[in-house]
Amino acid sequence: MVRERQKASTSFVNRSLLSYINPHGFISEQYRTIRNNIQYAANGKKIRSLLVTSPSEGEGKSTAAINLAVCMAQRGDRVLIIDANFRNPIINKVFNVQTSPGLSNVLGQQLEIREAIYNTEVEGLDILPSGQRLFNSTELLDSQVMADVMSYASEQYDMVLLDCPPVLGVSDTNALVSKCDGVVLLLGSGKTQQELALEAKRALLFAKANILGVILNMKSV
Ligand SMILES: Nc1ncnc2c1ncn2[C@@H]1O[C@H](COP(=O)(O)OP(=O)(O)OP(=O)(O)O)[C@@H](O)[C@H]1O
Ligand SMILES: [Mg+2]
Repeated sequence: MVRERQKASTSFVNRSLLSYINPHGFISEQYRTIRNNIQYAANGKKIRSLLVTSPSEGEGKSTAAINLAVCMAQRGDRVLIIDANFRNPIINKVFNVQTSPGLSNVLGQQLEIREAIYNTEVEGLDILPSGQRLFNSTELLDSQVMADVMSYASEQYDMVLLDCPPVLGVSDTNALVSKCDGVVLLLGSGKTQQELALEAKRALLFAKANILGVILNMKSV
């Protein structure tokens, strides 16, 4: 189905891949619990696309999105992570591939989505890197082309995970929430103030997000 253009290798030990490197550890177990809770929170509705965001930068969204994706692939799901963070793309770095081509090229209609997807060494897990930074990203993410990307991906995969920028101060995430079955709001402990968390929740609900729950990310030093 997906052209195996290049197999991405996980060349360095990374926190983002803990669930892959150490699947029986305590942290992996926590991610598996969150994975299962996402389905329970959906009240019987099958969740096929999930957006991960947070109020501010650097709270741990990408780390959580990748570990969740790995846990989903480990239970046998076919999973695609889309890097929708043009400002700080990270998915390509974790899997050691180029940023481009990627989502921005697909949105610019320079190539088909299947041409920009990489298989990874995690069985069942594919990635779509961000591509180069776009200056009209919100418009493109809000477009019919993006809706088509989501329908293609949801047909081909059991789960599509969108690794997004923060919800406050960047309009890209709001443009995407209504295109996903569910949204998970990640709060970095000690970093997210209560008012910011509430503001993020309000912004997501205003954009018609189906908020399934919150992840509290305790950053160890
Ligand atoms: N639970 C944790 N314990 C320790 N370090 C963590 C934890 N979660 C994330 N980090 C580290 O914090 C940094 C930021 O994490 P990450 O890139 O996942 O954040 P982000 O919210 O995706 O950032 P951005 O807003 O730039 O997209 C990374 O160096 C990551 O390894
Ligand atoms: Mg990130």
